[in-house]
Amino acid sequence: MSETIQTISKWHGGFCIEVAPLPCLIVIFGALGDLTGRKLLPSLYHLHQRGLLHEQSTLIACGRQEMSHEQYRNYIRTLDGMGKTDQLEQFLSKVFYHAGDYTLPETTARLATLVDDLENKMENQTSCRLFYLATAPAVYLPIVEQLANAGLTTELSAVTEKIVYPWRNVIFEKPFGNDFASAVELEQGLLRYLTEKQIYRIDHYLGKETVQNILMFRFANILFEPVWNRNYIDSVTITVSETVGVEHRAGYFEKAGLLRDMFQNHMLEMLSLVAMECPVSFSADRIRDEKVRLLHSIRMPDQKTLEQNLILGQYIAGNAMPGYREEAGVAHDSNTETFAALKLYIDNSRWQGIPFYLRSGKRMKQKKSEIIINFKHIPYSIFSPVKPEDLAQNRLILTVQPEEGLALDIIAKRPGPKLCMGDLTMNFKYSSILDPGENMPEAYERLLLDCMLGDQTLFIRSDSVRLAWQLLAPVLEYKKQITPFPYQAGTEGPIQAMEMIRRDGRTW
Ligand SMILES: NC(=O)c1ccc[n+]([C@@H]2O[C@H](COP(=O)([O-])OP(=O)(O)OC[C@H]3O[C@@H](n4cnc5c(N)ncnc54)[C@H](OP(=O)(O)O)[C@@H]3O)[C@@H](O)[C@H]2O)c1
Repeated sequence: MSETIQTISKWHGGFCIEVAPLPCLIVIFGALGDLTGRKLLPSLYHLHQRGLLHEQSTLIACGRQEMSHEQYRNYIRTLDGMGKTDQLEQFLSKVFYHAGDYTLPETTARLATLVDDLENKMENQTSCRLFYLATAPAVYLPIVEQLANAGLTTELSAVTEKIVYPWRNVIFEKPFGNDFASAVELEQGLLRYLTEKQIYRIDHYLGKETVQNILMFRFANILFEPVWNRNYIDSVTITVSETVGVEHRAGYFEKAGLLRDMFQNHMLEMLSLVAMECPVSFSADRIRDEKVRLLHSIRMPDQKTLEQNLILGQYIAGNAMPGYREEAGVAHDSNTETFAALKLYIDNSRWQGIPFYLRSGKRMKQKKSEIIINFKHIPYSIFSPVKPEDLAQNRLILTVQPEEGLALDIIAKRPGPKLCMGDLTMNFKYSSILDPGENMPEAYERLLLDCMLGDQTLFIRSDSVRLAWQLLAPVLEYKKQITPFPYQAGTEGPIQAMEMIRRDGRTW
């Protein structure tokens, strides 16, 4: 790594380590897609602004529409958050457009020529290559096949003394398969052309600061780990709720449903980080080993437990919003779930008997992603007549969205009468430690940067994907037998999900 620039700086008494990647040629498929326009291009531009895109790096955007380089640059100029600065023009000078049907050899042959031309202009006449498949999953394999046949993904051993890591990495957007069998089939197909080391399966939740912070929080502080177990924790709830409906994704969502869209990836990933054991080091495979061990420990739900522990819902019209079945592209008799709540148990000595409640839904009252660790009541109260169960439980709340931060609910004395106890929330917002005018980095910035550095820590390994689909298999089977409960758009989801947790004497 002699060529990379590593900066270590002090931050509020801590250490910040940021590494800038080597020259990288980035190729995005899906040039005009929603993800590319809203997330990938702005993230790459921010990396450029922060000096984290090597000055020799270039970007080729591939789309099916005919367009010149300059027309595509004009398109980028219109995107939100780009501004009109010299920095943007500098960034745009590195951007090229390539048109054609990606699945045709002719398109890839022309792409290979463009890649050669751009790399020949670089100092060492080579670079790392990052291919980002921001397309429909149906074209993942055909694109990779074309790239491999054209030699574009072939890894080289050290080319010069200077460049030691000319990676050829490929990022795959979610969903990675739509069940266990299709995920394995896709994986086997890709392994004909790529090695696992080249495959970067993205879950953008893992790029979010709060989600990454779970590991720091748990394993860089002495305070929490001793109580992070069944002796002190009563339950854990994970909520990801969105106010938006199905938007322009009805075609995909109708077939997928919420369980596939949110549980197989984001929800289980967050659960793994909260519940896994301490990895032996902060490195990709050691962290991913522990996540996999945790997934192995989740008790496989069976039909009988699912009857009690799974609630599915579908939004109906309410609060001036249409129902799911009225959305464009949705069948009028659709049974697709737009909400799911699931109670899971983890069979290991740390978590035996502790319920993990997971829920996620669309068109809910609030946009919110949070993990709540509910601690047990104190065993005995000296504050007679106040009993332990009269006091609110301590809660640790890790907020991923809308405003990343964490909060701790504790009991404290209220000023005034001798015995006056109340709940107090110690609240920390990440925005409070940013410099004026600075924004929270977008999750995709972290993930793009890590991929350019060849760091797979925040990407999902194949065994995790397979296990997550295996865990979801009985749930997907069971959902075929039931009809989702209706809930009004703009509410907290079906009443049955409230009842499920209330039966256990708890709340979301
Ligand atoms: N949008 C998000 O926020 C988001 C979030 C998470 C995951 N994802 C995933 O990211 C991927 C892209 O999503 P998106 O929302 O950007 O979708 P999108 O707006 O529909 O764009 C997808 C792009 O894929 C290309 N494409 C679609 N069908 C194709 C085909 N049959 N052959 C060749 N190219 C095809 C199109 O490229 P051209 O027409 O430009 O050639 C299109 O611009 C999907 O896998 C999605 O599940 C998206």
